[in-house]
Amino acid sequence: MRKKQTTVSFSWQALKAKGSIIGLAPMDGVTDVAYRLIQKKYGQPDVVFSEFVNVEGLCHGVLKLMHHFVYDAKDLIKSKSLGNLSDQTSLSERPVIAQLYGKNPECFYQAALLVAHMGFDGVDVNMGCPAKNVTSNGAGAGLIKTPALAQEIVHQVKQAVADYRAGATLDQAPDISDEIKLATYAIALLASGYTLVELSLPPMVRELYTRLDPKLRERSIPVSIKTRTGYDKPTTHSWISTLLETQPEALSLHGRTLRQAYTGRADWDEIALAAALVRDAGVVFLGNGDVDSVETAYEKINTYGVDGVLIGRASFGNPYVFRSKDFKPDKSLFQIAVEHAYLYEESTKLMHKLFDLVSPDQPVRLIMKEKLFLPFRKHLSWYVKGVPEAKKLRAKLMQVSSASEAEAILRESRLI
Ligand SMILES: Cc1cc2nc3c(=O)[nH]c(=O)nc-3n(C[C@H](O)[C@H](O)[C@H](O)COP(=O)(O)O)c2cc1C
Repeated sequence: MRKKQTTVSFSWQALKAKGSIIGLAPMDGVTDVAYRLIQKKYGQPDVVFSEFVNVEGLCHGVLKLMHHFVYDAKDLIKSKSLGNLSDQTSLSERPVIAQLYGKNPECFYQAALLVAHMGFDGVDVNMGCPAKNVTSNGAGAGLIKTPALAQEIVHQVKQAVADYRAGATLDQAPDISDEIKLATYAIALLASGYTLVELSLPPMVRELYTRLDPKLRERSIPVSIKTRTGYDKPTTHSWISTLLETQPEALSLHGRTLRQAYTGRADWDEIALAAALVRDAGVVFLGNGDVDSVETAYEKINTYGVDGVLIGRASFGNPYVFRSKDFKPDKSLFQIAVEHAYLYEESTKLMHKLFDLVSPDQPVRLIMKEKLFLPFRKHLSWYVKGVPEAKKLRAKLMQVSSASEAEAILRESRLI
């Protein structure tokens, strides 16, 4: 048995009982494992979410998607890139919620079963994404147009976590490939304190998974929903009432419609309208949209009757957004940028080793090797946004292909 397994159930109500909740919003292409660990280490948000993961993709065997689910991996938490702070071994993303999107209820059921097996603290259903390639298919915020389907999806996800507690195995996920199942076990083991080296071969992964504490199954895994105020105009009252019929444990509301995407300002009066409904239903309620500091977060909590908020874009390049103004950080954002860059590199290596382990005959790559670091450039640009004459510096940082190159440029500019 391992040291770090969490057999304690997460509950949104218990989190709320500790005080107002300030969490990190899910953001595709941003809130990966490295980002979440950095935000937890320096900002300590009360809860974090994975990027959204497509359930139909999982049912069609897209193994690559599994990299979004890597969390709390010991290889990363203990890595040199995260420094040698005394609290390092206790660093954890928990509570960490996996977010799913799609429109096929059966695939949601199977994907939620995977999430439960991986040991996440909760499952969140995305009903808020405004991207055309998602909504044109009826998924994300597109579900606002099909309330009966939206309800069916939540029922299936709740059924999956209930079945998991009652003993369901991944045999009950017939459309999920063996590689994805194996990756599921490996991710659970990594989050339970095993290193990838200890997993060595597929039979070992299966064997070690059976040895995990059986109490893991007794955890309740709450289901939550994240959505918007409406499709082309706010229909907050009817839409939120529809969702509450499915009895989620928590609900997050971004105060914009699908049509607004990210334009204009989030409408907190609509969020307040929903807050009254949600409170009466005994569901934990988080408001979201344009919160840029802890102080603004508390102002929203006190003014609009929400139990907490999610902060998204204001966390870009700034985990201290989760700290109050009088917090005295001992690391600069530039030092954090370097740490984050090395951790990001390690996380991509870890994911490729994971793919090699579960699919040795058909190597899966996230992106070509020489391009692996490119998605990180945007983070570098965010970290230097407050620097005078950032333009030149940013132009240089936009050319880097490794953490060491980024570090060299920040040194040359005397920022670290
Ligand atoms: C780059 C980006 C990616 C996003 N991806 C997701 C996602 O995967 N799932 C989700 O529920 N919301 C996603 N969102 C929406 C955010 O979670 C949040 O609702 C939105 O950014 C408003 O909050 P903010 O004003 O604090 O940024 C994304 C937003 C951005 C900017």
